[in-house]
Amino acid sequence: MKTTVEKLTLDEQKNKEIIKAAATLIQEGSLVAFPTETVYGLGANALNPEASRKIYEAKGRPSDNPLIVHISSMEDLGRIARHIPPKARQLAARFWPGPLTMIFEKSEAVPLETTGGLQTVAVRMPSHPAALSLIREAGGFIAAPSANTSGRPSPTTAGHVAEDLDGRIPLILDGGPVGIGIESTIVDFSEEPPLVLRPGYITPAMMQDVIGAVEMDPALGQESADMRPKAPGMKYRHYAPKAELILVEGSPQRVQAKINSLAREALDKGMGVGIIGTEETRGCYQEGVFQSIGTRQEEESIARHLYGILREFDKLEVDVIYSESFSSPGLGQAIMNRMLKAAGHCVIEA
Ligand code: TXA
Ligand code: MG
Repeated sequence: MKTTVEKLTLDEQKNKEIIKAAATLIQEGSLVAFPTETVYGLGANALNPEASRKIYEAKGRPSDNPLIVHISSMEDLGRIARHIPPKARQLAARFWPGPLTMIFEKSEAVPLETTGGLQTVAVRMPSHPAALSLIREAGGFIAAPSANTSGRPSPTTAGHVAEDLDGRIPLILDGGPVGIGIESTIVDFSEEPPLVLRPGYITPAMMQDVIGAVEMDPALGQESADMRPKAPGMKYRHYAPKAELILVEGSPQRVQAKINSLAREALDKGMGVGIIGTEETRGCYQEGVFQSIGTRQEEESIARHLYGILREFDKLEVDVIYSESFSSPGLGQAIMNRMLKAAGHCVIEA
């Protein structure tokens, strides 16, 4: 299959035509990759079981891993969710459109192919204007996981999507680099207090301001057989670069010293070494290939560059990557969650 890439520009009329053609593909049961504010999504008509199945095939995704249904209006939520608790309405009023996904009991309209066999459905209203128009034009309900091959870092540019899916899907909409860079926060309302299944840009503190108590899935950040994360997708190794990724935790000085000595040892063994640091530590590492992930003064910059840096190291063909860690409160929780998964939970205390 030939994959076409269409660039969205400042020409509104041209964008409309591109999005109309993309919406037609989705209505016909095909797949279209499109930008959202978090990461690029791989979209299909969420109410068409055959179309959902194509997503699993293109990504090589395990069939028990449910998809998020993307909507463009509050009225449409009622068509796919059975009960909408008042707290969910409050969060929607505050954070939709935006990087928040909520889980509800599903209605008959949603096929089990879309929900990975579950009776619940995950729903998000993205804020990216192209995503919203595409959803609206395509009939209101687009199932979209991140547009990467299963297990690889999520795509934050159209180029990343093409790296993974070129030849497997008919169309990629190129809206430039995304704004946030890590996937939406997922909250489950079948529990009381509501449970965060995946940390993201919307932090528990931001939600607590609106609805009171919110808890984190206790299985997050754990790696054991008896603690299974409630979001099926959170149990898989994910976002993994080809090289071994090792996180180093501790005070900044100790982390730098530790990474320098680990890098030296690996180089002595003839290995290619990558180092992930920040603007603050540029120049603090003597050896290996250094990449700055952003600045600690602005956590958003770290989230935005995370997946791109992991993909960059794949091209540099290093054997091992040592990374600083980022477990600050706020966005740090979501950043570390993704890094721990990318590292297969390999953490060294400095
Ligand atoms: O920011 C995002 O959410 C992006 C963009 C494209 O919108 N999408 C995304 O989708 O991250 P995906 O498929 O890569 O991740 C969806 C996660 C998976 O971990 C999945 O297991 C979980 O959501 N999930 C979906 N439906 C669920 C349900 N009914 N119950 C529990 N977890 C669910
Ligand atoms: Mg994903």
